[in-house]
Amino acid sequence: MILAIESSCDDTSIAVMEIQNKKLLFHKKISQETEHSLYGGVVPELASRLHAEALPKILEQTKEFFPKLKAVAVTNAPGLSVTLQEGVMMAKALSISLNIPLIGVNHLIGHIYSLFIEKEEIKPLTVLLVSGGHTKILNFNGIDSVCEIATTMDDSFGESFDKAAKMLGLGYPGGPVIENLAKKGSDIVPLPLPLKNSPEIAFSYSGLKNAVRLVIEGKKYKSEDIAASFQTKAIEHLIFMCKRAIKKYHPSNFAIVGGASANLKLREEFEKLARKFGFKLFYPEMKYTSDNAAMIARAAVEMYKRNMFTDYKDIKIIPRVRFEKCESLKKREEKN
Ligand code: KG4
Ligand code: ZN
Repeated sequence: MILAIESSCDDTSIAVMEIQNKKLLFHKKISQETEHSLYGGVVPELASRLHAEALPKILEQTKEFFPKLKAVAVTNAPGLSVTLQEGVMMAKALSISLNIPLIGVNHLIGHIYSLFIEKEEIKPLTVLLVSGGHTKILNFNGIDSVCEIATTMDDSFGESFDKAAKMLGLGYPGGPVIENLAKKGSDIVPLPLPLKNSPEIAFSYSGLKNAVRLVIEGKKYKSEDIAASFQTKAIEHLIFMCKRAIKKYHPSNFAIVGGASANLKLREEFEKLARKFGFKLFYPEMKYTSDNAAMIARAAVEMYKRNMFTDYKDIKIIPRVRFEKCESLKKREEKN
């Protein structure tokens, strides 16, 4: 069995997974949304303190599995350094005291594995990752083969919902609040479609965010109409860029992962795209869309099989990560 710890942002989670058949034996998560909602976003120091309180409480419940653990996995990148630190410290202590190897898991790859909890991998797979910290199109061909097709130039998709909600005086996280409010409104507010005239495959949400700010200041439109129009444009931008990527890479399997993959309007629009282009569309189960340790455990199972261990003395906390661009990976492979 592998025990996995996730503390990269505002969810404290621990999971235990069987290595052989990928069965999830234990999974608990404590969210800090209520605590952060007062501030309209995650406060790193507060998040870190709450992880320090919650981690031992959850770990206590996993003691029965300790004798059977073959490895301990932990998210060590990317995320808030002060919160990653909490999980990594606990994982190091477990690695030393139980004398088992340590596996450092990339949280973004973890999100891809949220698709495969208690399931086999699907590959090759093109993945749209939409979370609070990231908006990326990735190509996945196994745990050690992930490259980047596109990323955001500024804010992420989820973050833009959080910021729009904050400007409208709604709570945190903004995603579900905006999605619900949008149901009552109409798409009547003129907002710009980001990067419409750029030839690149890339994302940008800061212009749209500023446009929303100006509309709110103008006091001409109702909140529900602003929410509906903002959501429409934010999704339209995703579709616009994913269409470009689909035309270029012709994926037969496409998935949407990350906290914002819970958005039903987004799913609806991508289902239309899937019918049009004839690819198979995948999402994680709703309970695994947001941050959780089950996805970290599932990724760690593949890393365990490939001996992808990190010595507890060398494990690093990496707040920001970069993936190799798919274009340069292709060139490198052709050269070899
Ligand atoms: O993956 P996640 O739980 O944490 C990160 O790794 O960032 O994603 C959280 C993000 C937040 O920005 C939240 O507002 C957004 O996902 N989100 C949504 C929805 N549910 C959560 N965004 C749009 N629509 C939703 N229904
Ligand atoms: Zn995440």
